[in-house]
Amino acid sequence: MIRILSGIQPSGVLHIGNYFGMMRPALQLQDEGEAFYFIANYHALTSLRDPALLRENVRRVALDFLACGLDPKRTALFLQTDVPQVTELTWILSTVTPVSRLELAHSYKDKVARGMAANAGLFTYPVLMAADILIYDSDVVPVGKDQKQHIEITRDIATRINEIYGDVFKLPEGRTQATTEVVPGLDGQKMSKSYGNTIDIFGEEKELRKRVMSIVTDSAPVDAPKDPDKSTIVQLYSLFASKHELAEMRERFEKGGTGYGDFKKQLFEKLWEYFAPMRKRREEIQRDKSYIDDVLAQGAKRANAIADQVMARVRKAVGLT
Ligand code: TYM
Repeated sequence: MIRILSGIQPSGVLHIGNYFGMMRPALQLQDEGEAFYFIANYHALTSLRDPALLRENVRRVALDFLACGLDPKRTALFLQTDVPQVTELTWILSTVTPVSRLELAHSYKDKVARGMAANAGLFTYPVLMAADILIYDSDVVPVGKDQKQHIEITRDIATRINEIYGDVFKLPEGRTQATTEVVPGLDGQKMSKSYGNTIDIFGEEKELRKRVMSIVTDSAPVDAPKDPDKSTIVQLYSLFASKHELAEMRERFEKGGTGYGDFKKQLFEKLWEYFAPMRKRREEIQRDKSYIDDVLAQGAKRANAIADQVMARVRKAVGLT
């Protein structure tokens, strides 16, 4: 049976980029193997310095993931910090990781370019991520496109360890979905918590509607034909609509006579309806006070059992035991 692993940072509220890029594929993979999904709270410390907010976000990510269909009977959901061995593995991996490799990481360079202080945690972020993946002998890692390079770094680090110490790690495979590799945000850039261009999965109705209505468009008048291939509205609609519905919207774009405002309303209705069953499930979960804690405790237990075994193997291989 294959082992599937992925993580999500509790650095903010989950948005539809997270959903289509990672959560939905990860949820589908629950049927194909043994899945381990965790909330990357160590990673979030590189950008979030508000303890109360971090705690709140962690619970919210757990709640939202469960509401979207994570099945804790099959899948382990846990906190990264409940498996602290991962920080020990990070140290061991960092001793074989070339600084030059980390200097080339897009994610690091982007963050620094946008004015984030280059702290050492931000710099070694991919090594912690490699430890997250390797400590569970993971086979498949479902992620959005922005994380692909981190998986390549993971494979390089694992290969390096294997070259030096023999067969210690399995080489994991990153998996992205071609159709949802990069979900655009309101401004057409990649949807991201840190760009403020998100549509949140469980946003409040009025606020979500307002955000969808604020999607950036050109200034084509109502009558003019519009190019569906250049429209963020069409790109987002394609995530929710059937083939037929999408073809219909594209046709109305090309024909002219409909304003962007009407297309945005149509997109909002569709996405609101899409998440309706999950909003309902979310309310049910919220009524059961201990549910989330129980799920996380169970998940941590399963994750620790594997991490302990792998760490024993690693310590022995490198000469620490
Ligand atoms: P994070 O929290 O930034 O994002 C979680 C997942 O959502 C995907 N994603 C997107 N996909 C498509 N379009 C978008 N606009 C979009 N925005 C976000 C991300 O690609 C990601 O899959 N470093 C990871 C967390 C992590 C991890 C790991 C993942 C830590 N350790 C080990 C896998 C394995 C991160 O910051 O994801």
